[in-house]
Amino acid sequence: MGDTQVLRAGPGAERAVAAAAAHLRAGGLVAFPTETVYGLGADALNPAAVRAVFAAKGRPADNPLIVHLADPGDLGAVVAPVTPLARALAARWWPGPLTLVLQAGPAVPRVTTGGLSTVAVRVPAHPVAQQLIAAAGVPVAAPSANRSGRPSPTTAAHVAADLDATADLVILDGGACTVGVESTVVDARGVRPVVLREGAVTREDLGLVQHGREPDAADVADAERRASPGTRYRHYAPTCEVVLADPSQAPRQADEQARAGRRVGYAGAGRPGPGVLTLGSYRQASELAPQLYALLRAAEHAGVEVVVLDTVADTGMGRAVMDRLRRAASR
Ligand code: TXA
Ligand code: MG
Repeated sequence: MGDTQVLRAGPGAERAVAAAAAHLRAGGLVAFPTETVYGLGADALNPAAVRAVFAAKGRPADNPLIVHLADPGDLGAVVAPVTPLARALAARWWPGPLTLVLQAGPAVPRVTTGGLSTVAVRVPAHPVAQQLIAAAGVPVAAPSANRSGRPSPTTAAHVAADLDATADLVILDGGACTVGVESTVVDARGVRPVVLREGAVTREDLGLVQHGREPDAADVADAERRASPGTRYRHYAPTCEVVLADPSQAPRQADEQARAGRRVGYAGAGRPGPGVLTLGSYRQASELAPQLYALLRAAEHAGVEVVVLDTVADTGMGRAVMDRLRRAASR
């Protein structure tokens, strides 16, 4: 056990945030809520602290971290140059779930960027994250606070379950995350944004597709070529098998698995038979996103061998949700 301290954060708990900020400044690790998922934070400019983040997650050293700022005006402290595109995107989306990849400034250690000359930066919208980063007074490197390859954490309990062996970890408990999928990562070095990871800010939001239309082939090819390093790794997988099926088929598939003698979980819009454990209900991506990772973890906890999930439309927020589901289902 690693002496994990869980501190309740939020209104009236300013002392907890101040204590966590002091821990960060001293080189310690602090898990904190953001609007997307919980992050595992360290002083982004302290190589030893950043190395401890990689160790705690079991994360490959070539998978770079996102640097979190409290104030968009601090962008120039970690990147150079701030492109006109970055300025425009930051003005529109920060604070919020959009991460900008730009040329790294000299202050950012290479361990933070996974050896790359670029750095990913975002300003989270969650008040606890903002207070923590502002009080720490340093940029905070924070990947999602799960063990590498596991579903991302959307509650403090998820963080504790994955990282309880981490020495001197402070977890700020700010309740459940509201968005539920990670930020969109875009390369903002050029004249138009290139999506490297689908996320909570959609391609439609960024003006990259007409509503309801597929992204154009050139954009997809470009993104695949330049995809963010993290998308190479297997991800978001619970210990049970994950099966995706169209809503018209999924309940029946769950019933078939149950008849074959397997312990089966299901989530979606349908009603499978009594042999299947229903874990959650949703019809569209916006309903699924906030419960997605909790559902995968609940399936594990229920001890099911396989969980059958309704797919959702692959547009808007559905692109990010289906990206995570496909990765969770791949083995
Ligand atoms: O919503 C989020 O983005 C959450 C919260 C905590 O902010 N963070 C998060 O971090 O999802 P992580 O480490 O789980 O995912 C970061 C992604 C990875 O796919 C990583 O490869 C990519 O961002 N990334 C980081 N730096 C990059 C860079 N310089 N170039 C390209 N991709 C980068
Ligand atoms: Mg992650």
